[in-house]
Amino acid sequence: MEDTQKRNDVSEPSEEEVRKQLVELATQIRAANIAYYTNDDPQISDAAYDALVKKNKKLEAAFPHLIRADSPSHQIGATAATGFSKITHSSRMLSLDNAFDKEDVEGFDTSIRKFLGLEQDAKLDYTVEPKIDGLSLSLRYVDGVLVQAATRGDGTVGENVLANARIVSDIPDRLIDAPQVLEVRGEVYITHEDFAELNERQQRAGAKTFANPRNAAAGSLRQLDPEVTRSRPLRFFAYSWGEVSRGFARTQFDAIATFQSMGFKINKLTQLAQSVSQLLAQYEQIEGQRASLGYDIDGVVYKVNDLNFQQRLGARSTTPRWAIAHKFSAERAWTRLEAIDIQVGRTGALSPVARLTPVTVGGVVVSNATLHNEDYIIGQDSQSQSIRDGKDIRPGDWVQIYRAGDVIPKISDVDISKRPPDSRPFTFPTSCPACGGAAIRKENDAVRRCTNAMSCPAQAVEKLKHFVSRGAFDIAGLGGKQIEMFYNDPTLPVHEPADIFLLQSRDQENQSKLADRDGWGETSARNLFAAIAASRKVTLDRLIFALGFRNVGEVAAADLARHFGSWERLVETVTTAAREPAASVRAEKQRKDFLNESPNWLEITSIDGLGDAVADALINRFSDRFERKAMDNLIGQLEILPIARLIVADSQLAGRMIVFTGSLQKMTRAEAKASAERLGAKVSSGFSKKIDIVVAGEAAGSKLKKAQEMGITIIDEDQWLELIRSDS
Ligand code: IVH
Repeated sequence: MEDTQKRNDVSEPSEEEVRKQLVELATQIRAANIAYYTNDDPQISDAAYDALVKKNKKLEAAFPHLIRADSPSHQIGATAATGFSKITHSSRMLSLDNAFDKEDVEGFDTSIRKFLGLEQDAKLDYTVEPKIDGLSLSLRYVDGVLVQAATRGDGTVGENVLANARIVSDIPDRLIDAPQVLEVRGEVYITHEDFAELNERQQRAGAKTFANPRNAAAGSLRQLDPEVTRSRPLRFFAYSWGEVSRGFARTQFDAIATFQSMGFKINKLTQLAQSVSQLLAQYEQIEGQRASLGYDIDGVVYKVNDLNFQQRLGARSTTPRWAIAHKFSAERAWTRLEAIDIQVGRTGALSPVARLTPVTVGGVVVSNATLHNEDYIIGQDSQSQSIRDGKDIRPGDWVQIYRAGDVIPKISDVDISKRPPDSRPFTFPTSCPACGGAAIRKENDAVRRCTNAMSCPAQAVEKLKHFVSRGAFDIAGLGGKQIEMFYNDPTLPVHEPADIFLLQSRDQENQSKLADRDGWGETSARNLFAAIAASRKVTLDRLIFALGFRNVGEVAAADLARHFGSWERLVETVTTAAREPAASVRAEKQRKDFLNESPNWLEITSIDGLGDAVADALINRFSDRFERKAMDNLIGQLEILPIARLIVADSQLAGRMIVFTGSLQKMTRAEAKASAERLGAKVSSGFSKKIDIVVAGEAAGSKLKKAQEMGITIIDEDQWLELIRSDS
């Protein structure tokens, strides 16, 4: 008897115990996953993690009928890299341009009127809505039923958080009288009261507390376990939409009211305004209520009310033209500047960084701030005008910090009366702190740069960090820390991007395996290799952005990708342009004289929104033998996909090159250009053989004549309107 009892206790636990253990293991593994994947902050060793997974597997194998629906073994694999599956938004989730003062708001109103061709005194209504400081969420309803919930992500691809969204009581599962397809967008947030309570609970449980309500809302929505989300009181305001199968309102205001009648919560402070002065008055009124709302808002949003106007205004690459966020002024705090460090960026720029005695600004602890450049430190702006009344900034100074939104904190003022008597002005280094090479400041450049592009380790590491960053290759498990480690690793070196894709095969050949190193393990090594393999497929725009050409950010990268369509075309054009006369002339004015003999140069610089600086950057990089080799090595490792299409899929205008000339009567030039781009056409400001269509307005001059001579299709404004109408 005693014997049997013993065996039961030790080798055959009761079902009840197994169940408990499985719950415990699921919780621990999930927590480890979150720490590792979501927070990039592993809390247990890889070996300990592997042991948990193994134990879970063993129990599940012995008691298959007790496997939990949310078993961690179901979650490893495709979705484990980030924890959630990815969703491509059917229409891009845009963000908002910012206004900080009255002039910005006036500029916003003026440019809208100009775009639409409205007189300054013509009637133009706006909505004024509080800007909720949470995170945006897109909810897809088909036949009135909630079928998908996606975070914004990078605007194109977000994460599927449907299970969590279903728990939020402000989000209806079913809609009354909704279009067949309707994507409702809005903000997930948490109230101050719920935030305080949540943090208290977290603290009691010995778990991580959140820095502010926004982080708490984000952390809760991106929680892998919906049960945990359930215990966190998220809320939702509806204010926008994505794909819809039919129109459901004529104005922004009505649209929001319709959301309410469908069952959503909308923000009661939303109102209408008829003029800039009314916009500003309502801004002040809402700011006055800020402290008593019970949830965070960080500004107000102005939107053109008429949806027809909104449609005509359209969007730039990431922000609509018909809306702007007017931010509340930033939060400020005073602290001591302990030291000024110099960081070397990927283009060799020497950036001064302020190391501060940590201070809380708007709920976030700040210990670093940007100091921009050497002029800024001595108290001058880029035009040599004095800033801060010409006061310089020195280590040891008492400085005022401000923080606006998510941007890097800045220094707004310095209190000279508190300056230590022995302080000395800061001397900006003239050599690179990383490699000792000369750091030169060219005329008209605000920045001093390390000239040692080839062998400066700081530049190399920063380039690689940029390469794997969000918006670029975005490889899970390969962040700044890991890049630095591999850069300095003798057996698994990553010195150029191609090396990343060779890690796995090199590791196989090595005696000592990555999995055996400190801080690594079977699982994390395997996951890293899987994430790298998955990122071999990359869209052209991401690839161009990842390469980190000077003056080429995400927008310019997308412009280049859209224009050239393939890597080969880009390389061909740039390398040919490099041999053309315009490329070797430095002064922009003189370049004009060589354009006729420089068709490839002209093609690059005529891409709307780009210019000489981008052409120079591309040519410089491609002309460097080593850089060219590094790029070729990389391309050999990749499968390049065409740019994700944001435009109407089968437009007959897609890919066509258009020139507008003469004066248009029914739409402004800006509107014409936007309408072409919306349908996937490219608008050129210069004239070349590659032009497909010339749209000639009234009094079109030399370009029209040239187009006639060259036999290019010429249409007038009405025909253009006809064309875009039939195409959209
Ligand atoms: S409209 C295309 N309205 O602010 C229009 N956004 O900084 C897209 N936000 O990503 C946004 N309150 O997460 C809009 N009333 C409001 C908002 C709002 C908060 C957030 C949203 C957006 C971010 C842009």
